[in-house]
Amino acid sequence: MLRTILTRRSVRRFTTDPVTDAELRDLLRAAMQAPSAVDERAWQFVILSGDVLASYLDLNGNTPRGAPTGILVCCDPGLEKVAGYAVQDCSAAVMNILLAAHAKGLGAVWTTVFEDHRPAVRALLGIPEAVVPFAFVPIGRPAARPEPADRYDEGRVHRNGW
Ligand SMILES: Cc1cc2nc3c(=O)[nH]c(=O)nc-3n(C[C@H](O)[C@H](O)[C@H](O)COP(=O)(O)O)c2cc1C
Repeated sequence: MLRTILTRRSVRRFTTDPVTDAELRDLLRAAMQAPSAVDERAWQFVILSGDVLASYLDLNGNTPRGAPTGILVCCDPGLEKVAGYAVQDCSAAVMNILLAAHAKGLGAVWTTVFEDHRPAVRALLGIPEAVVPFAFVPIGRPAARPEPADRYDEGRVHRNGW
């Protein structure tokens, strides 16, 4: 597990090979296994592929192209038991997707859904007004995988106080 964490990198170049439904199911299972505030699981997931994915990418230039599919992670405040915690739930879910993808030999990258792009994303995908498209994770088979980076920084560690 530690090796998976330490070797994960963002993958932004993909082959054209498909990702199977079973692989996607494993990633969604990992996402929904994430911790959440009082186990509220204030998340929803939208799988994108084909023309819909192409339209999504046209709206969100910050998202690398070329992956055959991806998972849009959405915050659902209607599921919150503690106001304001959906973002933290969804962050944990995104991280689990990234780690599960890497563990399975897939490539993925966390991408932002900018606030001013959210209305168009909602309209494209029929997402309810109250639900927040939070992060999109393109998923595919890596065409290139960045080298692991050791980022341990003792200067950021404070013991028993700052
Ligand atoms: C909140 C968040 C937003 C990010 N948004 C984008 C994005 O919009 N597009 C992108 O290509 N990468 C995005 N990234 C990926 C980061 O650029 C990447 O994680 C960082 O450079 C460290 O590299 P690594 O993931 O390979 O370790 C985002 C990561 C996080 C955590």
